[in-house]
Amino acid sequence: MRSDDLRDKVAVVTGAGSGIGLACALLLARRGAVVAALDVDVDAAERVCSAITDGGGRARPYEVDVTDAAAVDATFRVVVDDLGGVHVLVNNAGLALPMVPLADLDDDGWRRVMSVNLDGLFFCLRAALRIMRSSGGGSVINMSSVLGAVGRHHSAAYVASKHAVVGLTRGAAIDHGTDGIRVNAVGPGFIRTPLLESRHTEQGLEELASGWPLRRVGRPQEVAEMVAWLASDASSYVTGAYLPVDGGYLAV
Ligand SMILES: NC(=O)c1ccc[n+]([C@@H]2O[C@H](COP(=O)([O-])OP(=O)(O)OC[C@H]3O[C@@H](n4cnc5c(N)ncnc54)[C@H](O)[C@@H]3O)[C@@H](O)[C@H]2O)c1
Repeated sequence: MRSDDLRDKVAVVTGAGSGIGLACALLLARRGAVVAALDVDVDAAERVCSAITDGGGRARPYEVDVTDAAAVDATFRVVVDDLGGVHVLVNNAGLALPMVPLADLDDDGWRRVMSVNLDGLFFCLRAALRIMRSSGGGSVINMSSVLGAVGRHHSAAYVASKHAVVGLTRGAAIDHGTDGIRVNAVGPGFIRTPLLESRHTEQGLEELASGWPLRRVGRPQEVAEMVAWLASDASSYVTGAYLPVDGGYLAV
């Protein structure tokens, strides 16, 4: 068996219905994982599961809003009952707001970003850690961003949430290494998904990309490759890391 094989591991993917989460769900299933596809948009989660099962893989959809701690705990319990455990968590659900200078950000916008990108990520992380701690370990991949390492205009709340994800990742890795749990953060650059396309025109994206070493926007599958590696035993000595997948964005 290759060390990047995920056969029979149960992988929970949050925000699995679209974009990066969708690509992660498809790739993890292709590598042999049983996928629990969590999304607030249950139709989208069902679509990804149908695509997986039609291709011979195993997956189940779960409707959950990650900002609801009790619902998150209950969903993880049901996943364990249905699928036999949780060995991998891809903690990916997130959102971005329309871009405004920080002085013009209202309380509501701040809370929406923090409640999904940070509170929701924490609730899922904690639920997974509790299960993994009592079952011999696992691997958690938290979705940060290049904006977990640097700032960007008119995006301060999002930038703050993604920096916090990196800090939470390091703290969790320190606390739970001896439980056999690895916790890492991935930092995508600009990746072509509905989230990105809602914020930028095609021309705007081309102009942005012209400043990066690889001169193009990324594909969700390119982030999923890093996630699948972190999920697998091929990355067995990697924890507490922040790994960009950014076409060189942070090198400039
Ligand atoms: N696309 C990019 O360029 C980019 C770059 C860096 C980081 N990211 C991060 O990657 C992650 C995925 O982004 P994407 O571009 O694929 O976005 P997307 O909008 O295409 O997909 C996000 C998914 O999360 C789900 N979701 C949103 N709120 C939820 C909630 N409260 N509970 C459960 N599910 C919820 C949505 O229904 C959707 O299916 C996010 O954390 C985002 O911040 C994206």
